[in-house]
Amino acid sequence: MTTELSPGLAGVPCAASKIADINGNEGKLYYRGYLIEDLAAHTTFEETSYLLLHGELPTKAQLAAFDAKLRSHRRLKYKIVDLLKTLPETGHPMDAIQAGVAAMGMFYPASDVMDKKVQEESVIRLIAKLPTLVAAFHRVRHGDEAIQPRDDLGHAANFLYMLTGAEPDAVSAKTLDVCLVLHAEHSMNASTFAARVVGSTMADPFTVVSSAIGALSGPLHGGANEEVLVMLDEIGSLAKTDAYIDGKVERKEKIMGLGHRVYKAKDPRATIMQHLAVELFETLGIDTRYEIAKRIETITFEKLAPKGIYPNVDFYSGILYSKLQIQPDLFTPIFAIARVSGWLAHWLEQLENNRIYRPDQVYVGYAPREFTPMGGRS
Ligand code: ACO
Repeated sequence: MTTELSPGLAGVPCAASKIADINGNEGKLYYRGYLIEDLAAHTTFEETSYLLLHGELPTKAQLAAFDAKLRSHRRLKYKIVDLLKTLPETGHPMDAIQAGVAAMGMFYPASDVMDKKVQEESVIRLIAKLPTLVAAFHRVRHGDEAIQPRDDLGHAANFLYMLTGAEPDAVSAKTLDVCLVLHAEHSMNASTFAARVVGSTMADPFTVVSSAIGALSGPLHGGANEEVLVMLDEIGSLAKTDAYIDGKVERKEKIMGLGHRVYKAKDPRATIMQHLAVELFETLGIDTRYEIAKRIETITFEKLAPKGIYPNVDFYSGILYSKLQIQPDLFTPIFAIARVSGWLAHWLEQLENNRIYRPDQVYVGYAPREFTPMGGRS
């Protein structure tokens, strides 16, 4: 038994994994050995999901079969949509999809988690239905009818379509597709750890994913992308940026979208996001928030980079999503739509060689003491 405590389990390996690897000093990320830059440039989210789940890039026929299954499982049970209608419209979509995924588990019994068919069907259902769930909650909270998925559209394009009913242009759909590739997996982060812990109890995959969604929702994890936009809007103009950031640094307050437990260089996904944003501005026009964000990156490079604090994936993603007319509280749900593939790859990997997580603690409470009956307590 160890008595060494590592707060936040920093530097403590909790699984042997073949899924993703990060070189934090060089700012490199690999899924199954492939550089994220190559995957972002040459694959779709569907193809990357296949890679994460199966360990190898699909052949044309394998991808077509996987994609066809995803397309055919996009629809939600009408009772799930009814359930979404009962939730408060002011509630956060992350809470709604956490509840929706947990409820879905009651419609698709998957307690026999070692059964290959159960595993395969659950993986397809969860990846396929999550975008429909997000879009449906978004619609019904505004009093609109949920839009049925279209199986002639790719995963990203169909999600954008289900938000508004308008087919997205090719540039917008491709931009979102790349964002999904970038967010699909990231080794042992908080939500993936949550997925593996819950998976290790042999709970069903819907419970696993709904737990991971809960972990992702926090502002120190997936919730940061929404917080970045709040900060950029609070700053409001390029002229006010320096004073705002200087104040934060002096007060030792955290700047959202910066810093990472593993990266001590700029997150490669932030660089790709930035390029995507610039490309998108060519068709949709520039956003002042981008100018503010770039200025923040410049100022903090001098002040925080020496401590290894650089932009992470969340720094530019909100700007991109808002340019695609997506409202801020859907940014983290989009992260979940992507990361579900990584969570499920880890769930399957965990089950291959499972042992329930039961870590240790350093007890710092009272030594054993006498029980005081109610009458003797003051
Ligand atoms: N702004 C300013 N200072 C920071 C930041 C930041 N964003 N992040 C870390 N620091 C500083 C801390 O104040 C601390 O300084 P100190 O040593 O002088 O006390 C030092 O860097 C270490 O910070 P920790 O919070 O201990 O680092 P940790 O590895 O535990 O946290 C985390 C990593 C949570 C990502 C942190 O950098 C953070 O809170 N960032 C802002 C939130 C954010 O963007 N989260 C998204 C992460 S990526 C993702 O989940 C998709």
